[in-house]
Amino acid sequence: MIDPFTSSIKRPLIAPSILAADFAKLGHDCQAAMDAGADLLHVDIMDGHFVPNLSMGPVVCGACRRACPDTFLDVHLMVTTPQMFFKPFRDSGANAISFHIEVVDSQQHARDLAAELREMGCHPGIVINPPTDVEKILPVLDAFDLVLVMSVNPGFGGQAFIPEVLTKAKTIKQLLTPTQRLEIDGGIVPQIAPLAIDAGIDMLVAGSSVFGQPKDQWTHTIELLRGPKSRK
Ligand code: DX5
Ligand code: ZN
Repeated sequence: MIDPFTSSIKRPLIAPSILAADFAKLGHDCQAAMDAGADLLHVDIMDGHFVPNLSMGPVVCGACRRACPDTFLDVHLMVTTPQMFFKPFRDSGANAISFHIEVVDSQQHARDLAAELREMGCHPGIVINPPTDVEKILPVLDAFDLVLVMSVNPGFGGQAFIPEVLTKAKTIKQLLTPTQRLEIDGGIVPQIAPLAIDAGIDMLVAGSSVFGQPKDQWTHTIELLRGPKSRK
């Protein structure tokens, strides 16, 4: 398993989002993405309330875990009450669980939720949406292992990248320690990936740009997303 938080790999990590996978053969697609060179899998959870879509629950995360026993599962909770889902996803094999700064009541609440996830053995992540001011997240960054900058308004795959979020990413990157990871999610295609990497992103979520392609293109696409060999 490549663990983003202990790995010595310097190159950007690629995390295909299973939201874009073929759910008629999800286990096969998960394993095929890892065989094609993905570093970990991103699991997009939507509650139909925080975002206008419903995606999957802990049982699907568990299915991914059974299909890929040695893969790091990066769970992204696009939900109004994330705390309800911490234990069900931890028990379903999540390695990291991220929730949105937009749903927490205070800085202390964000810190308490991060501590709860750490207690459970999961890496805590905090997520910020494109319209949210970066000032909202800066005071709590130190409580998290992972910071996820949304580059689309969450709810659906296949949307267009919002370039303005790169300014936010650069600001956040300056405040992170070397062991914290900065991730981006939404509209990440090979043409966009270098811009994100240059802004300090070191984990790229890619849904439709991987799973939306013919399977025999996945290895090539993942390599393109990573950028030139020199970025090793
Ligand atoms: C929020 C989701 C999407 C998705 C990525 O809507 O988190 O960002 O996983 O989808 P693509 O890579 O297809 O934009
Ligand atoms: Zn996501």
